Amino acid sequence: MSATEIKSPRSAVAKVGSNRIAPQYRRNGSSKGNFEMLAWLFMRLSGVVLVVLIFGHLFVNLLVGDGIHAIDFGFVAGKWADPFWQIWDLAMLWLAMLHGTNGVRTIINDYAEKDATRLWLKIVLYAATTVIIILGTLVIFTFDPCPVVNGVQLPGGFCPVP
Ligand code: HEM
Repeated sequence: MSATEIKSPRSAVAKVGSNRIAPQYRRNGSSKGNFEMLAWLFMRLSGVVLVVLIFGHLFVNLLVGDGIHAIDFGFVAGKWADPFWQIWDLAMLWLAMLHGTNGVRTIINDYAEKDATRLWLKIVLYAATTVIIILGTLVIFTFDPCPVVNGVQLPGGFCPVP
């Protein structure tokens, strides 16, 4: 059996002037404190919480009662009428987005070699994350199961006729 060698990441951060990393991969070695350690820890902790949130979500939506056949507009409206599920879905949204974003940030740092490429990929990533978190949070807390537009009740099936 031959030993497997795991090579150092190509883009490891090394102080300018360091000989440890080939010149084309050297980065500005400015200190970020212990941010990277906290980010590493966050991935593990959020991963554990996400297992509970995601499998709880799948179990309640797909298996309990009529399961997947019960999912419709009214099902979602019913869940979001309950603050417990609002908080559950909010935690799932925020943790999945921050966990996924931090994971993609790591991948960008590992694979994008040019400073400008890394910068722009991360600007797009953070912009997308911000929009999705704000929109998702607004949807959870401003959801109206019986919307009335210009005095007309939109069809909801179960909403009282005005
Ligand atoms: C079921 C719950 C989940 C668990 C237990 C979990 C766990 C983990 C862990 C421990 C890592 C770090 C891996 C490493 O540093 O080598 C990771 C990375 C990552 N996770 Fe998750 N995760 C979960 C859900 C998700 C979700 C929902 C998303 C997307 C929104 C996601 C996206 C990512 C990405 C993009 C990475 C980076 C992958 C890489 O570095 O190659 N994960 N996950």
